[in-house]
Amino acid sequence: MIKIRNKTLFAQIMAIILAVPMLAWAGGGGATGFIDAGTFALVIEVGLALGAIILATVVKKMGMPLPKLVQAPILWAVCYIAFRVILQPPIPFSLLAMYMGVCTVCILLYCSLTTESWEEFSNPIAKMLRANSGGAKMSRYATFVILPGLIAFQTYDMMLPKFGEPIELRTVHPAPPASINTHKKVINLQTAENPFRIGDDGNYLKVGDESKYFGGNAWTGDVPVFLQKVQEGGQVFFGTAGCFFCHGDNLDGLGPFSFAFNPIPANFADSGTIAQLQESFVFWRVAKGGPDLSREAFPWASAMPPWEKHLTTPEIWKVIIFEYWHTGFFPRTWG
Ligand code: HEC
Repeated sequence: MIKIRNKTLFAQIMAIILAVPMLAWAGGGGATGFIDAGTFALVIEVGLALGAIILATVVKKMGMPLPKLVQAPILWAVCYIAFRVILQPPIPFSLLAMYMGVCTVCILLYCSLTTESWEEFSNPIAKMLRANSGGAKMSRYATFVILPGLIAFQTYDMMLPKFGEPIELRTVHPAPPASINTHKKVINLQTAENPFRIGDDGNYLKVGDESKYFGGNAWTGDVPVFLQKVQEGGQVFFGTAGCFFCHGDNLDGLGPFSFAFNPIPANFADSGTIAQLQESFVFWRVAKGGPDLSREAFPWASAMPPWEKHLTTPEIWKVIIFEYWHTGFFPRTWG
């Protein structure tokens, strides 16, 4: 029967052991975080080490020796936690396996230092294997029947082919907000017009009328003002922003980066994308990108960047003009 002689001392020491890591945790986990991650880890380590030493002293002083068979797994677990959690930066599994192998050998060496200590370690095991008592029989069943059974079941369950649910459907073109705030200006998405739809007379070019510019070369120099805007939009697409890395040289969504993304970049040459959209909707998508998509568009890990952070409002309108011109589509209109 274990007897704790000085309960007050015991309680105090236990409180210290618990307090050190707790304090460090509170300090590191707080909103302001008055110590950085490195110091935090150090305090935790020192706290745990001190705690372990104090605990060991208390156990020894109070005459509560732990049997070797209990000591060994505790030591093993402490080593594992130290390598897995405390050691920074984290080590790969192969290294962890090596370290733990060395630790296991050391712990077994420690347990078998003297004949007595080895007997202390192995006797309970031998007893469990040989004894005829009910308890020993139960632990034999547990070790040799239930445990392997559980492992076998776990393996079977892992190997069993799984038939997951079908892929969730998602809304490709979710409802846009009524208005957005870009570059400190509010843009009403129902009324916004592309300021670069300019006809030869300098007036607003109605949607559809730009077809007369389709098929031409916008890069020849002396082109109508509309094609100058197309050209500037092309410079954004291939230069300033590099949209082509994802959306492709031919605007078909097959840029060199496109294969890395799911969902893949939109294929503007397909009639299902910009041809279905108003220019203001496209403006919203280019300005705000994936981050501004509403909940109905999820699960949707869109890689589309929020371009308002890298392009001016005119640049965004121009690249839109370029995309429609290049693909030969017209944007949708309300009328
Ligand atoms: C990092 C890759 C990447 C780059 C660079 C990129 N996009 Fe995208 N874009 C995507 C992906 C992926 C989607 C499809 C998912 C979505 O709609 O958010 C998309 C969608 C879009 C859409 C929506 C089309 C639709 O049918 O809803 C537009 C418009 C668009 N991009 C325009 C642009 C423009 C203009 C640029 C350059 C200024 C650009 N993108 C650069 C990845 C990219």
